[in-house]
Amino acid sequence: MSESSLFSLDQPPTIRNAAEHERGSSGGTAPAARSVRLGGVTIFPPLFQAPMAGYTNYAFRRLLRELGGVGLLCTEMVSARGFLEIDARKQSYPERLWGVRDEPRPLAVQIWDNEPGKLGEVAARIVEEFRPSSLDINFGCPAEEITHRVSCGAFLLQFPDKVGELTAEVVRRAAPVPVTAKIRLGWTDSAITAPETAAVLEQAGAAAVFVHARTAQQKYRGTADWDRMAEIKARLRRIPLIGNGDIRTWEEAAAALRRFPVDGVMIGRAAISRPWLFAQASAALAGRPVPAEPSPEEQRELLLDLCRSLTEQFDAHRAVILMRKYVCRFCLGRPGAKLLRTHVSAASDMKTLIRAVDAFYSAADKTE
Ligand SMILES: Cc1cc2nc3c(=O)[nH]c(=O)nc-3n(C[C@H](O)[C@H](O)[C@H](O)COP(=O)(O)O)c2cc1C
Repeated sequence: MSESSLFSLDQPPTIRNAAEHERGSSGGTAPAARSVRLGGVTIFPPLFQAPMAGYTNYAFRRLLRELGGVGLLCTEMVSARGFLEIDARKQSYPERLWGVRDEPRPLAVQIWDNEPGKLGEVAARIVEEFRPSSLDINFGCPAEEITHRVSCGAFLLQFPDKVGELTAEVVRRAAPVPVTAKIRLGWTDSAITAPETAAVLEQAGAAAVFVHARTAQQKYRGTADWDRMAEIKARLRRIPLIGNGDIRTWEEAAAALRRFPVDGVMIGRAAISRPWLFAQASAALAGRPVPAEPSPEEQRELLLDLCRSLTEQFDAHRAVILMRKYVCRFCLGRPGAKLLRTHVSAASDMKTLIRAVDAFYSAADKTE
């Protein structure tokens, strides 16, 4: 998928309604955090890391885990067909499953396809060979390679019955591991199917529904419409609803939990820029003092840690390419960020990249 098209650096997301209202009224007091049950698995705090292709690899998950505060981490989306092809051709696993076997739990693996047999087979294999805490099915990806070309991801939101059929098969093959589903509001504004899809998912045995409150047509444009959560929640009898979209700060996470009928919140892009966000949100939810933003020096250290882990997982070239993306997200909003982006984007080796990072954060330290 083309990440750059999904991920505009110039347009930070905003969560509609929630946080401003909360800050203005109650001074931001946090709700009591409740755990979320995914079948037999208890998730606490109710804060979920959104799966993000190209970002939520093993190295990044390790960083998040060290910083703390995430209830459930999740891999990038793993293609069921890709899994089977790699298995047949090379007797190995997709790169996106790297680290999963030995990583601490709870951890979810996300899979996608539109063929119940293949999706079910891969679900069974992953459960057997990787033992994740839960499996998530992707019904939310709006990228054309996934929707138009192979009729998967958010394309399937036009067909709630098909979503139910796929989910029922995965539930059957993955049992007793809980199966969740990640959806969007619908295919377009005039085809909002999330309430009906949520009911179908529950009926099919899903253990939770994650909803990114945009349509597929919106991709990442506009704002997430959290007001839609109420009609989705109304269709669920037993299973939890997790809201997702545009949460940028711990205040917004706490506000979303308080203002909307969701059992948990899922955070994506903001966690790439500020992976300490989960630790802040979880402290807020527990009524503990919220940790301050890390100093420039601490942020530099986090980036270097990430760099070390990426180098363990990927070859030097891939590690540099990935680091460029993380650095560009980390420095967002800071003076000099534009120049740093220019420098890291041109860096072809890790040494040059780290020199640029060092220069940026040491200048930032002096100005704080
Ligand atoms: C670069 C990128 C990659 C993504 N990859 C996935 C993915 O693999 N699976 C998925 O369900 N959603 C994926 N998403 C969507 C996110 O999980 C999330 O729903 C979306 O970014 C909205 O949440 P946010 O506003 O907190 O970022 C991706 C989003 C981005 C920006």
